[in-house]
Amino acid sequence: MTKKEILKRIEKENIQFIKLCFVDILGRLKAFAITRRELEHALEEGMGFDGSSVEGFARIYESDLRLLPDLETFNVLPIAFDGTKTAMMFGDIITPEGKNYEGDTRYILKKNLEEMNKAGFDRFMVGPELEYFYFSSSDKPQILDEGGYFDSVPVDEANDLRRETILVLEEMGISVEYSHHEAAPSQHEIDLRYDDALKMADKVILYKLVVKQIAAKRNIYASFMPKPINGFNGSGMHVHQSLFSKGKNMFFDGKDENYLSKTAKAYSAGILKHVREICAVTNQWVNSYKRLVPGYEAPVYIAWARRNRSALVRIPQSIVGYEKSTRIEARFPDPGANPYLAFSVMLKAGLEGIKKGYELPKSVEADIYEMNEIERKAKSINTLPGSLLEAVEEFSKSRIMREALGEHVFSKFIENKKIEWDNYRITVTDYELKRYLSFL
Ligand SMILES: Nc1ncnc2c1ncn2[C@@H]1O[C@H](COP(=O)(O)OP(=O)(O)OP(=O)(O)O)[C@@H](O)[C@H]1O
Ligand SMILES: [Mg+2]
Repeated sequence: MTKKEILKRIEKENIQFIKLCFVDILGRLKAFAITRRELEHALEEGMGFDGSSVEGFARIYESDLRLLPDLETFNVLPIAFDGTKTAMMFGDIITPEGKNYEGDTRYILKKNLEEMNKAGFDRFMVGPELEYFYFSSSDKPQILDEGGYFDSVPVDEANDLRRETILVLEEMGISVEYSHHEAAPSQHEIDLRYDDALKMADKVILYKLVVKQIAAKRNIYASFMPKPINGFNGSGMHVHQSLFSKGKNMFFDGKDENYLSKTAKAYSAGILKHVREICAVTNQWVNSYKRLVPGYEAPVYIAWARRNRSALVRIPQSIVGYEKSTRIEARFPDPGANPYLAFSVMLKAGLEGIKKGYELPKSVEADIYEMNEIERKAKSINTLPGSLLEAVEEFSKSRIMREALGEHVFSKFIENKKIEWDNYRITVTDYELKRYLSFL
């Protein structure tokens, strides 16, 4: 939309407020509202804000930042959202010197997409599947139904809630492919139709906001916490990916026995080779590693497969005539990740595989959970980091992570995650009390 069209729509729909949105380094949505009188000026020069209290942003002495709205992101929140007519826009964060701000993770994704262009591709297509739970409140994970995978009403009581959520998403131009009850009780998934990575990262932020808001209207709490309940599957964010050039899916090769191009194989090999370095970003919370344990559909072992859902990277069967849907699926990320950074680090690892011509190891179709350590060693199947601490150590040694995120975000991220781990490390947990208090 042009500036003129946006201003006209604001007028015509009598929209009073426009929320200017961005995310902090951890992917948490931040917004400040401006009145429509301010919008014309904001679209021209951006709107100043104090960045000093934003996680991972500048401290006091250099905090005068501006948010310059990105016209392509103009969106109107449907009335059903909160009963008002509010518009939303994402944008670029600009320093007082007029440069893009190195702490702006949306800008970091843009930079990685430029690297992709230099490597000869013009579109990075992403299809994330975000799983989540509905709970009675945010105090404790009280489940609302006993449903299971693809269960339907009456067990699937949240069917209406998902339906209302999908209608709001669709009204905002966020295409939904389908939705269903997931494997764990009270766990759900709404599948978005894939799109360009930057647009999809914006959509992921809006998706989480809308899922939570529509649930809150019915006094229900929607959570994207990776592992809220011991003994149940956790919530993942499988990320389907492919690279296009001039309208052609570069992951497809009609001559290959699996219709998979050399590019797709090298890209997958890049993700497998660097996954221990990127986990700190795609699985950024202490709780993320409570999901990455054997026995719950979440991947633990570094291997790829075509059908085997215990593998870390799955390559769904391609069908001739459906070249466009040839893709790879990364099954380790979780919905607690900052989507701008998660898409950046996976793209970087994939492009590294293409640039360096990595070989894709043999696929592993057998159930890796059934293998013992000797069998896994024989197949040189390594494991993901077992904790946030281990993941941050791998991350901080990584050259490609430093390149992908830039000095500012790279060091701020490590700083933040070390504090989080330390807070967890020094806390006495319920587990310890139950385990030790009665006999020590
Ligand atoms: N070329 C492509 N590039 C990226 N994503 C794509 C491409 N083609 C399709 N997709 C996306 O891949 C996702 C496929 O989701 P789907 O739920 O079918 O996957 P699944 O992994 O088989 O499901 P599950 O993990 O629940 O068993 C959708 O978001 C779809 O839009
Ligand atoms: Mg999947």
